Amino acid sequence: TMTAVLFGGPSPEHDISILTGLQAARALLSTQSGVVGIYWSKTGEFFRVPPTLEAPAFAQGVPAGAEPLMLVTGTKSGFGSLTSGLRPKLELLPIDVVVNCCHGGPGEDGSLQGAMDLAGIRYTGPSAATAALGMDKLSFGALASAAGLPALPRVVADGVIDFEGPYIVKPRFGGSSIGIEVVRDRATLLERVRSSVHLRAGAVVEPFREDLYDLQVAVRSYPELVLSAIERPMRTAGAASILSYSDKYQPGTGMASAPRELPAQIKPEVAEQIRHVAVKTANLIQSRGVARIDFLANDAGELYLNEVNTIPGSLSHYLFVDPRESLAEQLAKDIREARERSTY
Ligand code: DAL
Ligand code: MG
Repeated sequence: TMTAVLFGGPSPEHDISILTGLQAARALLSTQSGVVGIYWSKTGEFFRVPPTLEAPAFAQGVPAGAEPLMLVTGTKSGFGSLTSGLRPKLELLPIDVVVNCCHGGPGEDGSLQGAMDLAGIRYTGPSAATAALGMDKLSFGALASAAGLPALPRVVADGVIDFEGPYIVKPRFGGSSIGIEVVRDRATLLERVRSSVHLRAGAVVEPFREDLYDLQVAVRSYPELVLSAIERPMRTAGAASILSYSDKYQPGTGMASAPRELPAQIKPEVAEQIRHVAVKTANLIQSRGVARIDFLANDAGELYLNEVNTIPGSLSHYLFVDPRESLAEQLAKDIREARERSTY
């Protein structure tokens, strides 16, 4: 049988996913045989690719020699390839588990998970329901508030807003800071929601607080819930007042870039509260595999749960849950967790 590492996808986070996927594939190759790469193109086609490729091979899109694949749904038959020629014949790859390294879009919003459920394919990371919840900032914020977890007010950007500006407006289903803007007043807010390609597909708005900074913690759910050290990603000096895409990734590479404080130098009480809320959040959303839970905090001790990333880039770049274990050892746990799940 084979372990398939799936990455790419029709998402604004396609490029980051390639890096996550290739890094996961490399880690797996160091400890096992039978690793296959599955590249999901920006336009939605699947291809079998060598798992040893490097990121530049994808600079022009689908790499040379990639073999078209189809995800076979409706039967318990997994990934198949249609051989070329006048009479296509379906061949099935004996894939045991798909290691899902897709960020954003249909790879992280439950769509792919639902298709793989119906096809009887086991996969790492969130279920369809958890993925959908994690991708929807509005639903997640509402759930967090309803569960009594500390969260800033978050509402749809073109609805009733009962707090004052400045505002931070975010794509409702976005990731990696793409499309996020800070606006001073409602007129600008509505103008941006109408004209930004990222915000037009749905946007949420929150009070913008200059004093708040990001703190993040990763959780792994298997074999029992464990938390990483708390990390503080730093903004580039003199840059905008929010953590931007270029703070998170080096331009054009998707690699983690800006300096990070790990472990974050924060008060023990704040760290304790973060761990407490992170465990509650992971249980609430029924997290599976690795998730990263993002907080906002200030020096006065205020703390807010911001969002959850159910397939975090931190899987590969910078924040293994347990730095004493190799990425391969940690991925092996996600794979074991996926294998133990039943399929339909
Ligand atoms: N969505 C990005 C990849 C993250 O959560 O790290
Ligand atoms: Mg995110």
